[in-house]
Amino acid sequence: MNTNEQTFFRYHRRHLLGTEGLTPEEITILLDRSETHVQQNRQANKKKSVLYGRTIINLFFEDSTRTRTSFELAGKRLGGDVINMSVSTSSVKKGETLIDTAMTLNAMHPDVLVVRHPQSGAVSLLSEKVNCAVINGGDGAHEHPTQALLDALTIRRRLGHLSGLVIAICGDVLHSRVARSNIHLLNTMGARVRLIAPVTLIPSGIEHLGVEVFHDMDEGLKGVDIVMMLRLQRERMQGNFFPSIREYFNFFGLDEAKLANAKDNALIMHPGPMNRGVEMAVDPSELRGSVINQQVTNGINVRMAVLFDLLGSGSENSLAGSAEV
Ligand code: NCD
Repeated sequence: MNTNEQTFFRYHRRHLLGTEGLTPEEITILLDRSETHVQQNRQANKKKSVLYGRTIINLFFEDSTRTRTSFELAGKRLGGDVINMSVSTSSVKKGETLIDTAMTLNAMHPDVLVVRHPQSGAVSLLSEKVNCAVINGGDGAHEHPTQALLDALTIRRRLGHLSGLVIAICGDVLHSRVARSNIHLLNTMGARVRLIAPVTLIPSGIEHLGVEVFHDMDEGLKGVDIVMMLRLQRERMQGNFFPSIREYFNFFGLDEAKLANAKDNALIMHPGPMNRGVEMAVDPSELRGSVINQQVTNGINVRMAVLFDLLGSGSENSLAGSAEV
């Protein structure tokens, strides 16, 4: 596929709800499109007008720094209008349901809703009720597709490919939508995924997704190309999953000694927010191979690509069939 040909392909679905079920071609199209934004985002003038006149609403029912900011920047850099709905000051606080809030926003004719919600499946449900495109910005412990895409872009830009790589996803897999979206994407692209966590933080039956499970960091990290760390998502935990933070850090916190098991040039990734002294050594930037800042930068490139492909082609995705409400 040469560069000229690539520009004619696009991601043709109406929404981006997850990486499960995406084809290698669709993933490659979105990653190739993201590459085209890398240069744009390095220039002094980062603004284009391809989404001029389009409205993007960020509807976040959970906290977010990176995802919400980078969707906002992505929309603005493509010339769209971006509105951030703050749920804490909206009618949700007055008891309005998710669907009623979505229908109200739908009546304002946005072109895309970016939605983050604590319940798995909520974003998909919402996408069936509205006329515009919907992007899943993270639903419960289910999926976070743009995070997996930005992780894939970061890996591909550093190592040139995804296929054949061995990636260890370490930590709180049980509560992690990042882990699930990465498992689907990486498997689809021909990488091999290992999960490393205490027994209590591994979902039962996860081997069916085609991953290898380890409960020992030294063993699981042997020879890996990528070490992807996860935060302990305590806001989703009900009960005790490990004896103490100190013990968790001793066994599963990433430090130089454990990292020595990975390949010499292994990349270290973390979706953020990072908890120093819990899953990461005190100063992760001192760990060789860290690409954590590049992940943040690539978040904008990927979200521009997704917004462009869902909206940039004209009105086919977002406005067709839009009923007067
Ligand atoms: C992740 C999330 O919200 O799922 N963060 C992110 O989007 N950068 C991971 C996390 O919260 O630990």
